[in-house]
Amino acid sequence: MTDVIGAPADVLHTLFQSDQGGHEQVVLCQDRASGLKAVIALHSTALGPALGGTRFYPYATEAEAVADALNLARGMSYKNAMAGLDHGGGKAVIIGDPERDKTEELLLAYGRMVASLGGRYVTACDVGTYVADMNVVARECRWTTGRSPENGGAGDSSVLTAFGVYQGMRASAQHLWGDPTLRGRKVGVAGVGKVGHHLVKHLRDEGAEVVVTDVRTDAVQRILDQYPVGVTAVADTEQLIRVEGLDVYAPCALGGALNDDSVPVLTATVVCGAANNQLAHPGVEKDLADRGILYAPDYVVNAGGVIQVADELHGFDFDRCRAKAAKIFDTTLAIFARAKEDGIPPAAAADRIAEQRMAEARAGHTAH
Ligand SMILES: NC(=O)c1ccc[n+]([C@@H]2O[C@H](COP(=O)([O-])OP(=O)(O)OC[C@H]3O[C@@H](n4cnc5c(N)ncnc54)[C@H](O)[C@@H]3O)[C@@H](O)[C@H]2O)c1
Repeated sequence: MTDVIGAPADVLHTLFQSDQGGHEQVVLCQDRASGLKAVIALHSTALGPALGGTRFYPYATEAEAVADALNLARGMSYKNAMAGLDHGGGKAVIIGDPERDKTEELLLAYGRMVASLGGRYVTACDVGTYVADMNVVARECRWTTGRSPENGGAGDSSVLTAFGVYQGMRASAQHLWGDPTLRGRKVGVAGVGKVGHHLVKHLRDEGAEVVVTDVRTDAVQRILDQYPVGVTAVADTEQLIRVEGLDVYAPCALGGALNDDSVPVLTATVVCGAANNQLAHPGVEKDLADRGILYAPDYVVNAGGVIQVADELHGFDFDRCRAKAAKIFDTTLAIFARAKEDGIPPAAAADRIAEQRMAEARAGHTAH
């Protein structure tokens, strides 16, 4: 018998040795009949069952898929801890092209894999998976959120995600300008998709001046038709981040918006948006602080969606969720205060607070 599996040394090193690791459990799933190949990563269950979505993506290699699952699961631990949820962090990735490979059989097989964890992992939607997919997964697995309202779910999470981002923005205004109102402020929204267009509504309702951009001209046109007054558009994000007199920049499209090219030219004094993983690499948070730009950490202000899916497990109640998402205002203020106190950027302060909550939970487990 010889070894046939080449061990992806860097992934195993990350898992067992590095600071980025420490994951409790990683499950490799395969169902030959349906073609399912998935990785379920549980970073931490210190605060409760791990909660995080399922990404369906055509990874170039299996090692890349494992690495992505590990990173995403870790991120969920921080997001859930910071949102005050009694959930740890987990994430699953299904390897494949969702357009080509997603079938009912595959999703059902995936549901059985998640169910085999007996509730240690609760799944939801992510890139490449939708409410309709979660309805299928839920047929095999009761630890499935992100379902449609007809199936006991809460449906689209972007409403509360946008509300949370808006709260984070108001907290940023309070911290910087001593008043939470955004009336009269100029806010640039990059990406007016599901979250971005709800965010524009909050901003216009409060009397902010809004500048939008999107790679989809139909998305921009829809906003301009809806708001004939107070909203203008620019051609692309490159222009948006340079708009004169911009107070707030809200990245609501893809990750990596804050990088070595964008940070030096940003005209805004606040960055607060929905996109995940806005900081392109470690150190960008310091570059922002050095330029005097206040960064409201992405995973803190965009937690409205996860707050919503977590609530599905208790019988979804919109008002209860909205009240929880409103607390993002206080959480964001607490992070800015901690950052000031410790002399560190807000992103680092957020990490510290989340780590503290997880450590306290772990200590509590040990004490029992
Ligand atoms: N939907 C949620 O509840 C939720 C929760 C947490 C985080 N997020 C994050 O928020 C972001 C937006 O999510 P969404 O659900 O609104 O997605 P979406 O796909 O509905 O909207 C994204 C929009 O960005 C546009 N876009 C893409 N590339 C762009 C570019 N280079 N410049 C300008 N616009 C561009 C797209 O055309 C689209 O209209 C994503 O990063 C997502 O991961 C969403």
